Amino acid sequence: MSDYPRLARQLEALLDSRDWLTNAAQTCAFIMQEIPDLNWAGFYLQRRAETLILGPFQGKPACNPIPFSKGVCGGAARTRQTQRVDDVHSIADHIACDAASRSELVIPIVVDGALWGVLDLDSPRPARFTRDDQTGIEHLVATFIAASDFSG
Ligand code: SME
Repeated sequence: MSDYPRLARQLEALLDSRDWLTNAAQTCAFIMQEIPDLNWAGFYLQRRAETLILGPFQGKPACNPIPFSKGVCGGAARTRQTQRVDDVHSIADHIACDAASRSELVIPIVVDGALWGVLDLDSPRPARFTRDDQTGIEHLVATFIAASDFSG
């Protein structure tokens, strides 16, 4: 398993700008480099009401836009609960952007009480994300939020 406390310290040191766009780009690049067995890592932002718009990411070109009513990402945005899916083929409204994806972790990002966006991680390995991975990656998202100014 990844050493998430170490990764959180490294990410905190990497995010030396307050700019959310720079920090989002750095965060998904860092995750893609440091966490094994991922084929996609990136952000979707709520830039229109109830709609997720593709933001900084690493991996193949992806689906855009995603309404809150659809997919695993939409579920995370709607419920504001992390979605951890062991087998994306078992989810009826999973949106397949990259056919290689088999499991998925989507973490909602709430800023000042509003759903700002989500961080979506995809893996080609079924059941890639354990509960401990979820906790560790939620901590990385908290590090990104704490480092960033979302007003501009
Ligand atoms: N699979 C996601 C869509 C985003 S891509 O995986 C990058 C979903 O069902 O919401």
